[in-house]
Amino acid sequence: MRTYEPAIHFKDVRYSIDGNPIIGPITGSFPAGQITTLVGPSGAGKTTVLKLCNGLLTPDSGGEILVEDRPIGSMEPTALRRKVGMALQDAPMVNGSVYDNLSLPLRLQKKELPETDAVSWLEDVGLPADYLHKKATELSGGQRQKVSIARTLVNHSDILLMDEITSALDRGSRREIESLITRINEKYGTTIIWITHNLEQATSIGDYTWVLIAGELVETGESGILEDPVDERVRQFVRGELK
Ligand SMILES: Nc1ncnc2c1ncn2[C@@H]1O[C@H](COP(=O)(O)OP(=O)(O)OP(=O)(O)O)[C@@H](O)[C@H]1O
Ligand SMILES: [Mg+2]
Repeated sequence: MRTYEPAIHFKDVRYSIDGNPIIGPITGSFPAGQITTLVGPSGAGKTTVLKLCNGLLTPDSGGEILVEDRPIGSMEPTALRRKVGMALQDAPMVNGSVYDNLSLPLRLQKKELPETDAVSWLEDVGLPADYLHKKATELSGGQRQKVSIARTLVNHSDILLMDEITSALDRGSRREIESLITRINEKYGTTIIWITHNLEQATSIGDYTWVLIAGELVETGESGILEDPVDERVRQFVRGELK
């Protein structure tokens, strides 16, 4: 089996709320430049893992998260958010135009996004230039998701976290977003960590997979592992017996 450089490494990571363990201890890596899909039953802790990856949540003491070999806690929060971008299922937008949304990450840094750059990011995600001045509220679900992905590109994030970004989309839009993410991964070498409920999607677009069950990283490896898992709980999950 190949060895991979880790983009993000978890070492004995636990996370609890009011003393109740939610996840861990988890030890494992998200390989750099690869697409890793994160799968597991509802409530397994997938979103929690993602939020730990960009500092939205802080692990319990004792464990360690390294982002490109640096302890996450030593990174300046805005630098971390730039390096590790995030897109969510409902692609939340601020009121205003598509341009207002695309330029948001730079406005937060008191910088401006030239319109020509905004247009090229739009084109990069497959939206026409004249969408720039459309109201964000007038976009379809698939178009919102494309703007949300373009917004992470504006920041030149090296790592993209995606939480069920295609679950609310129809099949056609889902396919478009899948090929868009694959293209971003190939073009920019971006590390992708993608939560999905769709195991067919996990196998077809993922290079690598993490299977989380009840807060534990039960199985990990190249995406083919989902076709013939070793762990009995993962076998049950793949058969649809664990929801
Ligand atoms: N703020 C909170 N307070 C209490 N429990 C929480 C909180 N956030 C998450 N949890 C619990 O932590 C566990 C993991 O939640 P998480 O959202 O990470 O799961 P998930 O795998 O993303 O699930 P889903 O597939 O349904 O999105 C769940 O049991 C959830 O109820
Ligand atoms: Mg979740």
